[in-house]
Amino acid sequence: MSNPLITIERFLLSQQPENAKGDLTTLFYDIALAAKMIATQTRRSALLDILGYEGTTNVQGERQRKLDVYADDVMFKLNDHTGRLCAMVSEERDDWIPIPEVYSKGHYILVYDPLDGSSNIDTNVTIGTIFGVFHTLDIDQRGRIEDCLRPGRELVAAGYIIYGTSTMFVYSAGQGVHGFTLDPEIGEFLLTHENMRFPEKPAYYSFNFGAALLWEKGMQKYAEWLQSAPEPRLSQRYIGSLVADFHRNLLYGGIYGYPGEVKYPNGKIRLLYEAGPLAFLAEHAGGYGSNGVTSLLDIKPDSLHQRTPVFIGTRSLVEKVEEFLGK
Ligand code: AHG
Ligand code: MN
Ligand code: MN
Repeated sequence: MSNPLITIERFLLSQQPENAKGDLTTLFYDIALAAKMIATQTRRSALLDILGYEGTTNVQGERQRKLDVYADDVMFKLNDHTGRLCAMVSEERDDWIPIPEVYSKGHYILVYDPLDGSSNIDTNVTIGTIFGVFHTLDIDQRGRIEDCLRPGRELVAAGYIIYGTSTMFVYSAGQGVHGFTLDPEIGEFLLTHENMRFPEKPAYYSFNFGAALLWEKGMQKYAEWLQSAPEPRLSQRYIGSLVADFHRNLLYGGIYGYPGEVKYPNGKIRLLYEAGPLAFLAEHAGGYGSNGVTSLLDIKPDSLHQRTPVFIGTRSLVEKVEEFLGK
């Protein structure tokens, strides 16, 4: 008996608490629509002159790709006027984004990395979108920066879209992690991975070993342990797209790590809209996300684009990092 055909809309409604207004559910619809639009562009990027650079740089000092800017535009334009949000934060924009006074304000804050893995866009390698949702600290106020600078523990939902051989939407609102695959023929996300959990036995580790000589001693010792101790032996897989590495490790077990090193003393990954949302998902799938000392969910960002070392995936492999770095 094949899977019953359950659309993301029907699934979200079935998960919605009785007394809920439905704003979070409809916010997910908006993000799913953005995902379909971005997926369409990633499928045809070379045909639409959407490869290559926009000729601008973002707050990270990174040269923006055309698809970075397109994805950011879509996420913003689908969410700025709906009355469901009171603020947004994007990797591609310097400051937090208030909801224009002309639109009614909502109770949610959306933080997002519109396109993760940008260095892969021109190489036809899997890329993604990462998002997190917070509830406002004060429903009587229009959004403020305090509503945005929140630890991942306060997320009400988080997820990612992965633009790979198929397009998948993976999210959690605190009741398990669920995956939906886009049927491009009908334009619907259909439930294909209910209650995703890290398998007991991990299979992979994902580190950029090109930077290994720049890692601190404890990290180098952990890397040696990783390549020799676990049974069965793990394989190295590193795509350069955090979403793709995270997704594969969620399915087959494993750890993604981006330690601090000379070029990125505090790590490269951004806490608010990359590490936090994925650590929320990891914990709701039986895994763990750490900065090498403590849970990523317990770190309150001091600034919107704050970077952090990231070790995320199968709990036992992540806890081992804390052991080696604590020595
Ligand atoms: P983004 O494209 O949003 O800037 O994120 C890229 C991140 C992450 O997705 C990936 O794992 C990492 O950068 C790759 O960095 P290196 O090329 O330094 O390994
Ligand atoms: Mn990213
Ligand atoms: Mn990005």
